[in-house]
Amino acid sequence: MSFSQASENARASVSQEAAVLQVCDLRVYYDTPLGAVRAVDGVSFEVYQGEVLGLVGESGCGKTTAAMAVLRLVQPPGRIVGGQVFLNGVELTRLSEGELRRIRWRELALIPQGAMNSLNPVMKVRDQIADAIETHEGKQPARELKERILQLLATVGLPARVYNMYPHELSGGMKQRVCIAMAIALNPPLIIADEPTSALDVVVQRVVGETLLRVKEQLGVSIILIGHDMGLQAQLANRVAVMYAGHLVELAPVLAIFSAPLHPYTQLLIEAIPTIKQRKPLKLTEGLTHDLRNPPPGCIFHLRCPHAMDVCRSEKPPLREVRPGHFLACYLHA
Ligand SMILES: Nc1ncnc2c1ncn2[C@@H]1O[C@H](COP(=O)(O)OP(=O)(O)OP(=O)(O)O)[C@@H](O)[C@H]1O
Ligand code: SF4
Ligand SMILES: [Mg+2]
Repeated sequence: MSFSQASENARASVSQEAAVLQVCDLRVYYDTPLGAVRAVDGVSFEVYQGEVLGLVGESGCGKTTAAMAVLRLVQPPGRIVGGQVFLNGVELTRLSEGELRRIRWRELALIPQGAMNSLNPVMKVRDQIADAIETHEGKQPARELKERILQLLATVGLPARVYNMYPHELSGGMKQRVCIAMAIALNPPLIIADEPTSALDVVVQRVVGETLLRVKEQLGVSIILIGHDMGLQAQLANRVAVMYAGHLVELAPVLAIFSAPLHPYTQLLIEAIPTIKQRKPLKLTEGLTHDLRNPPPGCIFHLRCPHAMDVCRSEKPPLREVRPGHFLACYLHA
């Protein structure tokens, strides 16, 4: 069964409302003097209500580009070449810029990569959160606005004193939680969190992870969690999508990804996770082996795959449902 067929069946069997986001065959290229970089090259997935979908893959595989394309925020020289994105059944790709602006934050909030460094250093936390709310909802009564901001800070586990503080007075983890508070300020059904714990130490990473989990459980929000941190994925994700060089190569429930990954690339990712007892040699140091402007024919991973067969060098494996809920783009396990 092909992914789109399975996806159709899933849509038919679960209620339409259950899929908050549907991404179909998304393609994003960056134009460069030497040709187009195919950063996202035919990616399809769905996000269900109340789930955390992890999006993982090594640096440069297209995670941020895919997230920005969902929000139609790709900047030149990047351009969306094809694909459709449905948010609660509304096709975002057909909306005007004005309509999209209304949807961003309210319906789909982004915590961008490096978000905590983009907080305005000369504005108090309360004013930055107030700005986010009033930009979309207009002027609010002062007392209600204050209560709402204090409630948001409490939801992300920050003490009330943060209300009157400047970003430079906060630790990295606290700043990141302010960014999460801003993302949930308008109660969106879906949040995209791009590497929310990178640049934080391990203990603080855990606190931020727990904050996201609390937000998910208290608000029932769906989250796309982008990141390299497989520990955070294990902690938070319901399902994990694995990207390699602009392609989605495996998508499965988190337990299947960690305990029985099927794609050779996912297997490398999982093997590379260090354990406390054993420091494993990292097998992923090679990075992408091809130029994204000139992808090889056949399977996108065949130049690095220890199991590559003749067919892998000429035919591109489609993403298929090989077990219930387990999607794979590989000729093994056919
Ligand atoms: N402005 C640009 N011009 C040309 N190529 C770009 C541009 N921005 C990104 N790319 C390329 O697009 C590909 C995908 O980049 P992207 O930032 O989406 O990756 P990522 O998976 O988010 O990586 P990371 O984990 O490092 O954040 C990369 O190979 C990158 O070199
Ligand atoms: S399709 Fe072939 S080359 Fe690609 S991951 Fe599977 S076995 Fe390896
Ligand atoms: Mg990124």
